[in-house]
Amino acid sequence: MVSHSGLITVMERAARKAGPRLRRDFNEVQHLQVSRKGPADFVSIADKRAEDTLIEELQKARPDWGFLVEERGEIKGDPNKPRWIIDPLDGTSNFLHGIPHFCMSIAVEDPFGSQGKPEITHGYIYQPVTDESFWAEKGRGAWLQDQRLRVSARRDLADALIATGIPFLGHGNFAEWSRIFGAIAPEVAGIRRFGSAALDLAWVAAGRYDGFWESDLKPWDIAAGLLIVKEAGGFATDYRGTEVNIAKGQVLAANDGLHSKLHKLLAGSLRNA
Ligand code: IPD
Ligand code: CA
Ligand code: CA
Ligand code: CA
Repeated sequence: MVSHSGLITVMERAARKAGPRLRRDFNEVQHLQVSRKGPADFVSIADKRAEDTLIEELQKARPDWGFLVEERGEIKGDPNKPRWIIDPLDGTSNFLHGIPHFCMSIAVEDPFGSQGKPEITHGYIYQPVTDESFWAEKGRGAWLQDQRLRVSARRDLADALIATGIPFLGHGNFAEWSRIFGAIAPEVAGIRRFGSAALDLAWVAAGRYDGFWESDLKPWDIAAGLLIVKEAGGFATDYRGTEVNIAKGQVLAANDGLHSKLHKLLAGSLRNA
């Protein structure tokens, strides 16, 4: 393994502690207790167990840090210390349908980043089925295990494979997504909707996808992935082309050259609405 800071080791240990149980739960998914938080918004005992293990492990390592986690919400810590932003199972719908495409996403948010405002400094995304870890530290690059990650070098939309998240029952803006899709799909080599925003971003960082857009995401879906994309040399903005606000959850990510082309199509489709 490539040398990394103590914090990445802490995140890795926590994820790999929660991973085997999540894999076991996935293999017995038909027996899992599942409840509904809202329309098409499911949570299973596996989401909760993974979240509990991650919190427990991370708390052992940094007892005074707070958390923002999907299932338990906010857990207050020392406001002068960083906090963890966690999605214990991103891709719950895939998981519950027996589709092996889901992950855990863990990020560290420094309350006083380089510009005195909150900033993500570490990101770790773990895919337990493939045993892949995508991770990044601010200013120190992005990695898949011990391999340096680079966004793709493709420059032509006609060669580009683009991921997205499609609105669904009770969630998102169908008209807006359809306009953007109508502008981008005819120009690119393919569109994918695999159902885990965190992995979508990790795969942009790894050059598997050339770009990704989605809105109405939550901080825990994107905090780690956005840093991994940036540290892999990629570019991520909101739909206006300005810095992503993780609380607003609107993302367009790609390599530098494709980002401006995709943004032109996206912005044009919304302007002509
Ligand atoms: C979901 C996934 C999905 C995205 C949804 C998210 P969850 O997270 O990231 O790709 O389209 O908006 O809610 O609920 O599986 O953790
Ligand atoms: Ca969820
Ligand atoms: Ca999620
Ligand atoms: Ca989740």
